Amino acid sequence: MRVLVIGSGGREHALLIGLKNDPSVTDLHVAPGNAGTSAISTNHAVDIVSGEAVVALARKIGADLVVIGPEVPLVAGVADALREAGIATFGPSARAAQIEGSKAFAKDVMAAAGVRTAHAEVVDNPAHLDAALDRFGPTWVVKDDGLAAGKGVVVTTDRDVARDHAAECLESGHPVLLESFLDGPEVSLFCLVDGETVVPLLPAQDHKRVGDNDAGPNTGGMGAYTPLPWLPEGMTERIVDEVVKPVAAEMVKRGIPFSGLLYAGLAIGKDGPAVVEFNCRFGDPETQAVLALLKSPLGEALYATATGKLAELPPLEWQDGAAVTVVVAAENYPGKPRTGDVIAGAEAEGVLHAGTARNADGQIVSAGGRVLAVVGTGADLAEARAQAYSRIEKIKLPGSHYRSDIGRKALEGQISI
Ligand code: GLY
Repeated sequence: MRVLVIGSGGREHALLIGLKNDPSVTDLHVAPGNAGTSAISTNHAVDIVSGEAVVALARKIGADLVVIGPEVPLVAGVADALREAGIATFGPSARAAQIEGSKAFAKDVMAAAGVRTAHAEVVDNPAHLDAALDRFGPTWVVKDDGLAAGKGVVVTTDRDVARDHAAECLESGHPVLLESFLDGPEVSLFCLVDGETVVPLLPAQDHKRVGDNDAGPNTGGMGAYTPLPWLPEGMTERIVDEVVKPVAAEMVKRGIPFSGLLYAGLAIGKDGPAVVEFNCRFGDPETQAVLALLKSPLGEALYATATGKLAELPPLEWQDGAAVTVVVAAENYPGKPRTGDVIAGAEAEGVLHAGTARNADGQIVSAGGRVLAVVGTGADLAEARAQAYSRIEKIKLPGSHYRSDIGRKALEGQISI
């Protein structure tokens, strides 16, 4: 099977590694990819938000399957263009991708499906902002009602900070969503979804704030681990039954069935799971940890989903033990990152590439905010962390930073519901 992966981050590098390990995958291509993906696949410089350009590339390489990583091409309808061209595609239609692209749409679907989530109000007029803020908080949760790569969410106990973020979104022409704060540890549960068929992957936990002990601003994600030793037995099945299946059924009922990866971001409270957000694609950096433990052939699972045959897929098999991924970020991330620095140690085992490129001398250099995602595995969380951090120590990138506490609270038994 010839597979084309769309995207250029650590998530796409992890997808390519998983696909490479599937014996049914004979050829791997990626657009645009990064310096790391070119070691295991052919990189193509293509505008990935253009359905026409992606269809042309898929035809040129004779792709049997296209896997779309990021949300932006999905919301732009690239999966629709590929399906119209008769090419099997992993990723939802533009209408179904609204589950991530429009927070207001997601809330409407959840209300109709009877799924627990935060109370929310959309504000699209600056004149209504102060009164709306008074109906919430503290803590305030303010979301940009559009795609903001994880950085459009501000969670704060400071009303002025909440107000400033909301005003900034409104000024740039986006409505904002104010939400009540959901208490409880967060879980990312990725599910393969094909209409009403739902197959969960291992639950993971992201670390969204930039600094240790959850200090500083939100990022796209600074690290993750899987599985979750503190998650009560049966919780994954409960999330599937109470959250993902009802939402998948509601999408079918609306005539916009979801096909691809539905990512449920949840807070697990005393009353059970409640949805923080849905995403219409694999999460980054959780994917790098989750796929490190997948034993079943990835290409087969993605192809079955893309071709409406997920119900026929044998149960997924997983390695015992744990996996941890730690993001190495460029200086100043999540602000405007410093780029162009040569990275030493970027080609070692377990080092997945995100924001990397090659300079004119062929050296690997930083080219984005999240530069590398370093993965460790082991018999348990302690071993997986130890491997990830020992791998990180061998990497040299001037000005870079990473969190030193990925998975630490779970390891020390500090997470409870
Ligand atoms: N891990 C957060 C995201 O992928 O949006």
